[in-house]
Amino acid sequence: MDQKQRLKWFQEARFGMFIHWGLYAIPARGEWVRSQERISVEDYQQYFDEFNPVDYDPAEWARIAKDAGMKYAVMTAKHHDGFCLFDSQLTDYKATNTPAKRDLVKEYVEAFRAEGLKVGFYYSLLDWHHPDYPHYGDNFHPMRENIKFKGKKHKFERYQDYLHGQVRELLTNYGKINIIWFDFSYDKMSGEKWRAKQLVKMVRELQPHIIMDNRLVAGHEGPSTQQEQLGDFSTPEQQIPPAGLVDKQGKSVPWEACMTMNNHWGYCANDDEWKDSQQVVRGLVECVSKNGNMLMNVGPTAKGEIPMESQEILEEVGDWMHENGESIYGCAAVKLPKPEWGRYTQKGNKLYAHIYDRGIGGLVLQGLKKKLVKIRLLSDGSEITKASPWYSEKYKGLQFIMLPSGPLVDDFDTVVELTLE
Ligand code: GLC
Repeated sequence: MDQKQRLKWFQEARFGMFIHWGLYAIPARGEWVRSQERISVEDYQQYFDEFNPVDYDPAEWARIAKDAGMKYAVMTAKHHDGFCLFDSQLTDYKATNTPAKRDLVKEYVEAFRAEGLKVGFYYSLLDWHHPDYPHYGDNFHPMRENIKFKGKKHKFERYQDYLHGQVRELLTNYGKINIIWFDFSYDKMSGEKWRAKQLVKMVRELQPHIIMDNRLVAGHEGPSTQQEQLGDFSTPEQQIPPAGLVDKQGKSVPWEACMTMNNHWGYCANDDEWKDSQQVVRGLVECVSKNGNMLMNVGPTAKGEIPMESQEILEEVGDWMHENGESIYGCAAVKLPKPEWGRYTQKGNKLYAHIYDRGIGGLVLQGLKKKLVKIRLLSDGSEITKASPWYSEKYKGLQFIMLPSGPLVDDFDTVVELTLE
């Protein structure tokens, strides 16, 4: 299967759910807590001994994702702390050995699939639990400044084998997996340090249709257009690339912007800086208008629940998607200048005008004069008429349309469907 074919469903889906979940939900200060607070393996052990997500109901998570209009999900099978939500035979540091006593990944896969959603695994290349991952002097390891670890030799090959072995498990034991999301590379810890070529070969053998992110070579700090043999899509983080992403020839490359809903990936009890649902909708539109996807994160609690705030945001996003999803799924960038009133997306002969700012008077459509056969409000199919007000005489090239003169019907984003001839 070539890359274009592999990516087809993904570029139509446009909207997915990122799930960051692990032991770090208990300290509830984000998934980097071990690194930021220099917590030793021993001091972190209390969370392992206590991890018991009694309210974990992945069918409920899947329903929340689906109702929001999301088409796929990516869950942390293992994050940087090394804790595995899946039943790996290569470590004891896994959910089945905590009071949870369950393979949480297996349940996730089954539940999301049952809702018709595509499933993906996030897998951390960094591992702060494995004894053979560099400790002292590493950029991020919780023990990077602890002189107890200075001069300690690590058999990194053993870690490489472990990483390859776990990826093999994940892509063998859970049926068809749609996305593998490696995270992340830095300095010398990149590419062949992960034995990337061999890893990619194995991944492709085990799951020929699977798509892979670009972080076997790229970092987590921002956009990269790396699209060689080592990944299918780019992963700008916490930022939508101002002009989309293109390769050296200027051709658009597949990308997915990953975003937190507050300011943390893993559950953070004191982080109340939630984005609002309008921002999420407009963020998604922004991505699609530049040929990208959006992967919106949730960080479930230690008990296994998606935070209430996230649920509420996703519900409102879902209401909008329910009426306007056609302007997102399968849509892409438009070759027209960015309009003053909002954004465009397009699918075939349908052009979608996403109107954020109604302005006053007639709404101007540039470059579309004599090209429109039908104009409808997407949410209810009602007709919108072309307008030729007297002042339009002066602007020969411009098409005007008349929206109701009051405020916009949908203050998130009022979508007008323009059918081209
Ligand atoms: C960064 C962070 C990580 C998070 C990821 C999501 O790489 O290290 O915590 O999972 O971004 O893109």
